[in-house]
Amino acid sequence: MQNLKFKIKVEKLNLFYGDFQALKDVSMEVKENLITALIGPSGCGKSTLLRVLNRMNDLIEGVKTTGSVKIDDKEVLNHHNNLIDLRKKVGMVFQRPNPFPLSVFENVAFGLRIRREKSRGMLEAAVERALSAVLLFDDLKDKLKDNALTLTLEQQQRLCIARLLAVTPDIILMDEPCSALDPLSTMKIEELMAELKKQYTIVIVTHNMQQAARVSDECGYMLLGELVEFGETKQLFTSPKDKRTDDYITGRFG
Ligand SMILES: Nc1ncnc2c1ncn2[C@@H]1O[C@H](COP(=O)(O)OP(=O)(O)O)[C@@H](O)[C@H]1O
Ligand SMILES: [Mg+2]
Repeated sequence: MQNLKFKIKVEKLNLFYGDFQALKDVSMEVKENLITALIGPSGCGKSTLLRVLNRMNDLIEGVKTTGSVKIDDKEVLNHHNNLIDLRKKVGMVFQRPNPFPLSVFENVAFGLRIRREKSRGMLEAAVERALSAVLLFDDLKDKLKDNALTLTLEQQQRLCIARLLAVTPDIILMDEPCSALDPLSTMKIEELMAELKKQYTIVIVTHNMQQAARVSDECGYMLLGELVEFGETKQLFTSPKDKRTDDYITGRFG
């Protein structure tokens, strides 16, 4: 794993919501084509850190950041950056699937239409490609006109991932993507992640330690805004270096 290229480099990142400091001096490096998990008790800053990576926190008033976040060696926190390009490159999947109240087809085509792609043939090919990548095409090829809200939750979450893939991101951020799903659907989404990492870099937030252990290659443990420990998942779960990580993964804390 040492030889893989760094995709994201976070250095001495601090984030404040007004006077409250939610991230404290966080440094980490995310490698390309790996699944990196962020774990830790509720409120420790996992979602906040994830949202920094595509500047979603910009939408919240009173947020201040210091430090550096580089993606492909380009500074992300530079406010002159083009946010649309960044969000195209860094897509995000949320806790509850959030398809638009549109057809299956229009959900997946949404980002391309925003980019003024008008050719029907191009759109159809892109929709098929994205739905196939999330293993939905065979199930839904006769239901492309159905409203996306009629799908099962698991299908909706896959559809939301397909909607991202259609605009060809490099990085997929997932914030507890399985928390609304039953165990069998969760397993299927985890299998999908393993497939997607061949082409994408994935950062997943989960409060489910077993999930982090199952799906991730590298893992960070957060506590009260600090990244306490970061490293190979196997190592972190079997021989953590920090006593606080040990307390958490053995269930003494959290
Ligand atoms: N929009 C916000 N305004 C003020 N405080 C916030 C906001 N979002 C999160 N926080 C606070 O920041 C801390 C980290 O939150 P969050 O990143 O959501 O944690 P996690 O995802 O690990 O549960 C918490 O104390 C939370 O209350
Ligand atoms: Mg969260």
